[in-house]
Amino acid sequence: MSKPVDTPPMIAPMPRDLLGDPLEFFAADHLRQRAAFALIERLATASALDRTLAAHVLEFLGKDMVAHVLDEEDDLFPLLRMRCEAEDDIEHVLGDLSAEHAAEERVAVDIRTGLAEALEAGRPVGDIEGLGKRMLAFVHAESRHLALENGIVFPLARARLSEDDLRNLSARMIQRRSSQ
Ligand SMILES: [Fe+2]
Ligand SMILES: [Fe+2]
Repeated sequence: MSKPVDTPPMIAPMPRDLLGDPLEFFAADHLRQRAAFALIERLATASALDRTLAAHVLEFLGKDMVAHVLDEEDDLFPLLRMRCEAEDDIEHVLGDLSAEHAAEERVAVDIRTGLAEALEAGRPVGDIEGLGKRMLAFVHAESRHLALENGIVFPLARARLSEDDLRNLSARMIQRRSSQ
């Protein structure tokens, strides 16, 4: 069996100081997700299990990604539905993104279960049936999802949300993280 390798965590901490500007926070969170996807790809294809990295990714998927989806589903998307004009034609985009949130959450739960199993057994991801493939598919789907939000959703939020909306959004996102 190849020797285990351990690397320090490489996903930057949540930029809480940006929560006062929620759209900046979303942008920073998406950058963190890109870093996380690169690490997930690395874990999926490595011949030895990097335990530190696996634990870090498990924590990211179980906490940060969950909070991010709630920020969008419970706060940002409902606000956009209220503020966007018919010409923005946002509903089908939000509908598709919400369906992806639900689907990817199920995949993330499977990946977490698989990673926990790999950690427990001290085996690389490739030894857990279907796990590497699921992780790579997750990264592919999430990268596309994130690009759609960056390209369509966030520019519309900048254009349509009022100062009050942004203040309320900020308060809700701070509240969500207050117990973390
Ligand atoms: Fe999303
Ligand atoms: Fe997002």
